[in-house]
Amino acid sequence: MSMKIIGTGSALPTKKLENEELTKLVDTSDEWIRERTGIGARHISTGETVADLAADACRKALENAGREASEVELLLVATCSPETEIPCTACQVQKMLGAGNAVAFDLNAACSGFLFALNTVYAYLTAGIYRNALIAGTEVLSKIIDWTDRGTCILFGDGAGAVMVEQCVEGGMMGFVQHSDGSKGNVLACGSRKLENPWFLEKDFVPYVRMDGREVFSFAVRQVPASIEEALGKSGITVDDVDLFVLHQANRRIIESIAQRLKADISKFPINLDRVGNMSSAAIPVLLDELNSQGKLIPGMTLVLSGFGAGLTYGACVIKW
Ligand code: COA
Repeated sequence: MSMKIIGTGSALPTKKLENEELTKLVDTSDEWIRERTGIGARHISTGETVADLAADACRKALENAGREASEVELLLVATCSPETEIPCTACQVQKMLGAGNAVAFDLNAACSGFLFALNTVYAYLTAGIYRNALIAGTEVLSKIIDWTDRGTCILFGDGAGAVMVEQCVEGGMMGFVQHSDGSKGNVLACGSRKLENPWFLEKDFVPYVRMDGREVFSFAVRQVPASIEEALGKSGITVDDVDLFVLHQANRRIIESIAQRLKADISKFPINLDRVGNMSSAAIPVLLDELNSQGKLIPGMTLVLSGFGAGLTYGACVIKW
């Protein structure tokens, strides 16, 4: 038994923030941002919540799959920027969709969130516990970004992507790997809420994203190709058998370096970060939906999905479309 993606959807906030507009906030330039990251624009919430965006993406994924919300058995939302601590985002999305028969909960593995959610669902479906699932990656990172820090505020964007998956007998997910290295948690971190009670007041608390960009960069270019090779090995295929590498969209130079290390043609690495920036757990499903709606995902194609980010977390999976 395996699991296949039968529908995709995505949603972006209406406001598009071009690099040029960022130069009014921090000391940067369109040229610097494009050259160092490949990013030209990103979408920023002007009120849309992670649940709004996820529900929108999920509705489209359901429609694309030809399924009703009431049919969904498992609703898993990956996010590291939830609107509320409780209830979880997935329960809010469940209500918005009317997916009353689903069990709904969140998963946070930062930029690897969608990939880890996909792998988690695979375990449930292949164990026969549920027959189908709706998985969303959704972020409003603009609320955890320090808009005075030019090292981070240029990178991130808001948005959501979703996929509908179901059990299948042939094809679908061929293999996956996932890893975590908590010892490097400090290189990309963000506080959640200050400990402030009658007995203790936390000082030096940073509720915004702090990052050692160089450290994250070198982690990604070392570990991602290795984890992709590992996932390919588990699936019994090689780099040459892969049609498309759908990677987490963090930085064009990271993607180019990964392609080089894998000795794979860069044309096999679709990129949309120039238009949407780094949307953390939403990056992979939004890119998948773009490819799907453009008719670029043909049945029988072999795809590698790979996520990496804070935690540190990283991993890859191989899918026969
Ligand atoms: N505009 C202009 N200058 C900037 C800038 C910006 N937005 N951000 C940083 N700089 C400056 C720095 O202050 C530094 O100046 P200095 O030499 O006078 O000190 C200079 O540019 C070089 O900074 P550095 O951090 O070494 O640049 P870099 O080439 O490593 O690029 C990143 C910075 C953040 C673009 C890059 O490290 C990166 O993309 N890392 C990965 C981050 C990432 O993807 N995180 C999410 C993973 S999921």
